[in-house]
Amino acid sequence: MGATVDYEAEIRALKRSMNAVILAHYYQESEVQDVADFVGDSLALAQAAEKTDADVIVFCGVHFMAETAKILNPSRQVLLPDLKAGCSLSDRCPPAAFKAFKEKHPGAFVVSYVNSSAAVKAMSDVICTSSNAVKIVNQIPRDRSILFAPDQHLGRHVMKQTGRDMVLWPGSCIVHEIFSEKKLVQLKVEHPDAEVVAHPECEQQVLRHADFIGSTKALLDYVVKSPKSKFIVVTEAGILHQMKKGAPDKTYIPAPPDNGCACNECPYMRLNTLEKLYRCMRDRTPELVLPADLQGAALAPLKRMLEWSV
Ligand code: 13P
Ligand code: SF4
Repeated sequence: MGATVDYEAEIRALKRSMNAVILAHYYQESEVQDVADFVGDSLALAQAAEKTDADVIVFCGVHFMAETAKILNPSRQVLLPDLKAGCSLSDRCPPAAFKAFKEKHPGAFVVSYVNSSAAVKAMSDVICTSSNAVKIVNQIPRDRSILFAPDQHLGRHVMKQTGRDMVLWPGSCIVHEIFSEKKLVQLKVEHPDAEVVAHPECEQQVLRHADFIGSTKALLDYVVKSPKSKFIVVTEAGILHQMKKGAPDKTYIPAPPDNGCACNECPYMRLNTLEKLYRCMRDRTPELVLPADLQGAALAPLKRMLEWSV
């Protein structure tokens, strides 16, 4: 039997020797979150990637997040523990089909959710995340028609919040679209003292039962600050780790999906493990590499998002 590796200790040592920063999303498994230098939502991770002066960005999240980091800070090496960590929203919005969608609506202002490929971003006027989507759409001149891709549920939520009409790409997140309204209502009946917090990628029939809707970071801040002590959490279960750390005495009930599982995990996010994180740092692979022209073309709409977010 070979000696067991203390992944956490090895990762911390590699971090120092490589001058690396580990950025992790809230949907990563707890061990990965605990070894990261920074845990955040898509916007906070993009901002952290842009401003870091570390030589290497190790991105524990999904592919589009690592791409965003590379576009915003191209002189850094960007590593991703598993290159196959995609996203249903991004994967189901192929650039050629998106181009055709745009061509059907000439003159429209194009807003793409950050959960999209670099090629789709490059064809967009501005990018948004779940935490700034309302703010971004509110800044688009009133006389412009708007295309919004690829998450139709976030798009509908933004339309409600802003009063703007938008043409929506018919995409959805496989994790958030399978929460069961019926099971959620049952849970509310069982726990009348609980507040429901939900991510805007959920369907409207689920969101209408929510007391608070927001990005992962907004949900975390909300439950920590709220005077309430019990929450039904309608998003990927990884967020519960930071909720328990931020307010350990409160009760968190993950909302059940419409299948046999008790809670909902993103199969793409969960491809990253502590062992893969260690190996990718040790071997400096897989590395996220993008063609320079694509990198350049996707930068302007991302920069515009950061400017419009302050
Ligand atoms: P946040 O930006 O809210 O963290 O969302 C990212 C994501 O992929 C949600 O499914
Ligand atoms: Fe994509 Fe959904 Fe996974 Fe987020 S939770 S990375 S939107 S598949």
